[in-house]
Amino acid sequence: MGIFILALVLGVSLAQHDPHMKHGRTSIVHLFEWRWADIADECERYLAPNGFAGVQISPPSESIVLQNPWRPWYERYQPISYNLCSRSGTEKELRDMVTRCNNVGVNIYVDAVINHMCGAGGGEGKHSSCGSYFNSHKKDFPAVPYSSWDFNDGKCKTNSGEIENYHDIFQVRDCRLVSLLDLNLQKDYVRDKVAEYMNTLIDMGVAGFRVDACKHMWPGDLQAVSSRLHNLNTSWFPSNSKPFIYQEVIDLGGEPITASDYTGIGRVTEFKYSSKLGTVIRKWNGEKMAYLRTWGEGWGFMTSGNALVFVDNHDNQRGHGAGGSSVITFWDPRIYKMATGFMLAHPYGVTRVMSSFRWNRHIVDGKDQNDWMGPPSYPDGSTKPVLINPDTTCGDNWVCEHRWRQIRNMVIFRNVVNNQPISHWWDNGSNQVAFGRGNRGFIVFNNDDRHLDMTLNTGLPGGTYCDIISGQKEGSRCSGKQVTVDSDGRAHFNISNMDEDPFIAIHVDSKL
Ligand SMILES: *[C@@H]1O[C@H](CO)[C@@H](O)[C@H](O)[C@H]1NC(C)=O
Ligand SMILES: *[C@@H]1O[C@H](CO)[C@@H](O)[C@H](O)[C@H]1NC(C)=O
Ligand SMILES: *[C@@H]1O[C@H](CO)[C@@H](O)[C@H](O)[C@H]1NC(C)=O
Repeated sequence: MGIFILALVLGVSLAQHDPHMKHGRTSIVHLFEWRWADIADECERYLAPNGFAGVQISPPSESIVLQNPWRPWYERYQPISYNLCSRSGTEKELRDMVTRCNNVGVNIYVDAVINHMCGAGGGEGKHSSCGSYFNSHKKDFPAVPYSSWDFNDGKCKTNSGEIENYHDIFQVRDCRLVSLLDLNLQKDYVRDKVAEYMNTLIDMGVAGFRVDACKHMWPGDLQAVSSRLHNLNTSWFPSNSKPFIYQEVIDLGGEPITASDYTGIGRVTEFKYSSKLGTVIRKWNGEKMAYLRTWGEGWGFMTSGNALVFVDNHDNQRGHGAGGSSVITFWDPRIYKMATGFMLAHPYGVTRVMSSFRWNRHIVDGKDQNDWMGPPSYPDGSTKPVLINPDTTCGDNWVCEHRWRQIRNMVIFRNVVNNQPISHWWDNGSNQVAFGRGNRGFIVFNNDDRHLDMTLNTGLPGGTYCDIISGQKEGSRCSGKQVTVDSDGRAHFNISNMDEDPFIAIHVDSKL
């Protein structure tokens, strides 16, 4: 009986850890600031054919429109209401995107901003993405509606009303984060409004939520919202499917609030993964890739089944949030491809690939002066469409890391080796490492400053394989390097430290 009840309790909560990915697909791509119309096209023309499981979209809720600085990306993290018109498009375009992506088996995960509304200095008027009136000084948001009764200020005990000390969990949850008006999620009314917003999206067909700023909400309040959520829409998901929940909790250690406070509700973003992987690939602090043998829980990360992992995210790629200078981004493409390749080859966690826009980065004394810059846009502030070049890369300052051959092919690698354990680990005690995933795939990295020239046991069936980093299988030939695996599973790898991409990956679907 006791075991039965335990299983029931676990069954209910663990349900929200399941991303409901389809067709053996395994990775999410964050199409940061993309328009809904472009995402719908991308699902059909690129993501489904290349085995991407889902898209994290930018917040669809009505946000403030800021002019100083001009239309920063973070305006979308300052809600005005839960109306669904945003810089990415209208409600109709949002619905069309959800339907079209679902119809090709690509899930949509919504970035939900529910901790707060706009900043206290946001002003008064209709400078909002749907044109709804608000007054931040009076804490009046009639389009929800929220009034001054629905905010936490009475509970906050700091003089400034701001979070001043991250070692005081009451401040972190009840005071304002960078002046953002902090919703009182202890109130049933606020919980109901937030759940109503999320349920509208669930009914529309989304598969789950990235929940913003969870460190700043009480786990009990999040649980109360979560328990109000509908099951996923049965047009696309099995009945009784709970929405996937992954919570943004920045836990790099050293604070009383930890990621584990939230793992009962859903998955949690593992920021240590991003920061440590950067340190290792950059070879800072004496770190070496050989140490990645115990990557995952062995590095003090949360249990794999609770983790959502990434090389960089939209905050830490520009120095926001935490993570610091070790975080690797598209600005360092050679090591970025290696880091993303390692993440996608390694079984730990649910993986999220970043897809960014380029901005005028201008670093002075370690701080990017232009860290606020919004997406590529026209003079009137509207977001530019994503331009697709004839060679399949993107233009107009859309970076489209997910379309880089090395990254796209590693997304496919992860699908091919899904559920296989790590096998045949090898390293040279330094930064030359290799490992397999059962008998389905094998990857070799040379992040040292000399040649790698080794015969290794791959565990793969004998045959000729196409390296999916320098090229891929195209019909009956390889467009890049070729690897010959003998009947004992052994293969010779010769990787120069000067190669454009000093790593090689092969899998059973890249066999000629
Ligand atoms: C599920 O989606 C379908 C197709 O868009 C829609 O017709 C239906 O009303 C949705 N179900 C719910 C419960 O909203
Ligand atoms: C591994 O490679 C590094 C750099 O190329 C080299 O210095 C080191 O001697 C190698 N280690 C072993 C154990 O072969
Ligand atoms: C590996 O490549 C280096 C440099 O191109 C070459 O000198 C060496 O002979 C190669 N080793 C094998 C076994 O092919």
